[in-house]
Amino acid sequence: MNPKPYKVILDTDPGVDDAMALYFALAHPVIEVIGITTTFGNVTVQQAAINALYLTALAGVKIPVTQGSAAPLTIPAPVPPAHIHGADGLGNLPERFPVQATLDPRSSAQFIVDMARAQPGGITLVAVGPLGNLALALAIEPQLPHLLREVILMGGTVLEPGNVSAVAEANIANDPHAAAQVFAANWKLTMVGLDVTHRVILPLSMFKRIADKQQHRATSTLHQAVSFYANFYSHRHPHVARIHGCFGHDVLAFLYLVQPELFGLAHGRISVLTEGPLQGQTVLSSNYHAGAEPADRRSDGVSQVCMQVDADACKQALEDALLGRWLI
Ligand code: BDR
Ligand code: CA
Repeated sequence: MNPKPYKVILDTDPGVDDAMALYFALAHPVIEVIGITTTFGNVTVQQAAINALYLTALAGVKIPVTQGSAAPLTIPAPVPPAHIHGADGLGNLPERFPVQATLDPRSSAQFIVDMARAQPGGITLVAVGPLGNLALALAIEPQLPHLLREVILMGGTVLEPGNVSAVAEANIANDPHAAAQVFAANWKLTMVGLDVTHRVILPLSMFKRIADKQQHRATSTLHQAVSFYANFYSHRHPHVARIHGCFGHDVLAFLYLVQPELFGLAHGRISVLTEGPLQGQTVLSSNYHAGAEPADRRSDGVSQVCMQVDADACKQALEDALLGRWLI
């Protein structure tokens, strides 16, 4: 058997929790990251691409990185949330190690299409930023849902309050029209939203422990970045302050990929509200009962939605992976 059965393209806006997700994927023995496509979101797309190149170089790996969507499809571009991820997206690192790495010249959408056509049915797309790259890739190749093995995205929320408005989650709110197109397509799609990411609070002490035990530029950089991010979440949420930590958000999409048994699912159609005060809200249709699996998810735009999570097991799996042998 292929020792790394999950070939993944990571679509991302790094972003501190994006960095955490990338390092989990690089560290995990069954995940092979075959490309990183970047988008605006936590930072500009230019900075997102710089960060993806930097994080991979720090970890000693060479993976194609592309630059993608610079702005939402329809709404005005949002201001990057420097108070959450730092102006540089990595918690305002005081300095960066010199690294040499260059971008793949293709657009992110074209890269996704090229890779999916070259390996039909073999690639999982893990999207942890606004969904413009995926929407543009769909426009280039309408058969994309059948060419990709599956799509797992961090975004949206069903019952949990939003994090950028009362009802909307940031990745969806940042480009609701792109998200609406993505949810309407016939992928095998799993949404990993705030219903579960707000249940998994990662203590900063865990990242210190990892950086102490596994001494490397990659782990010390991650620890520094998370310390900025944990300050933001700890000021905002008293229950997060109690353990001085942060939400794991993006890494949960990868945890679902490798350990889906840690999650409880609902099934249904997701609609995205694109206008008005509820813009960015993801609404799960009630046509399906929680836990009931429809016969063919690809045929009718039905998504799976993570609604429950075993938080302790997720934390342990993250720490175990980052403490494994993945850094040179
Ligand atoms: C999502 O928004 C971004 O700020 C995070 O990186 C994550 O992808 C959480 O709502
Ligand atoms: Ca993200």
